[in-house]
Amino acid sequence: MRVAAAIASLVLLAACDMGTEEREAVASTRTVQRGYAPVPPGTIPRGASAQAAALAPPGPERTPALLARGEERFRAFCSPCHGLSGRGDGPVVSRGFAPPPSYHEERLRALAPEQIVMVVTQGRGRMFPYADRVLPEDRWAIAHYVKELQARGIGAASGQKSTTP
Ligand code: HEC
Repeated sequence: MRVAAAIASLVLLAACDMGTEEREAVASTRTVQRGYAPVPPGTIPRGASAQAAALAPPGPERTPALLARGEERFRAFCSPCHGLSGRGDGPVVSRGFAPPPSYHEERLRALAPEQIVMVVTQGRGRMFPYADRVLPEDRWAIAHYVKELQARGIGAASGQKSTTP
């Protein structure tokens, strides 16, 4: 009795392993061709509204965790040009890339976090957009970190080394 059951389950397992049915199903989908259907007007790509919502001000709450994340992302994505302290003296600039303005200039001090998020999303002048590399939440984190750098006045004084913020 028990032996029979064991044999039966072995047979069943073997049948599962063969996977012939699955293969057939996969193969059959290759022959299915759907007719061309035009995209209806007003169609929003999947995720686009979620993206727009994630970028809408006021964005996520400014918490110590958000600032820490912003600092980390800023160092990775922005400091190569803008410098660790935001003075626009990162290593890329020392190799000949157009220097960005200092974050401590009056005009940039007046930028709201959402405007910084916009610059990261769309780029500006000679700065490329970073939308494909920096997630919307991280853009807010970076923007708040930039505001923090400005508020602390780090690097505002001339002659201060950007490597020691
Ligand atoms: C490859 C170099 C480079 C990188 C990396 C870079 N930037 Fe820039 N950024 C620039 C340059 C150059 C400008 C000046 C653009 C212009 O006015 O032509 C600029 C300008 C800006 C401005 C000022 C926009 C204004 O209103 O004038 C902000 C804010 C800014 N960048 C934020 C960021 C942030 C945040 C990051 C990281 C996600 C970043 N940048 C990464 C080169 C860079």
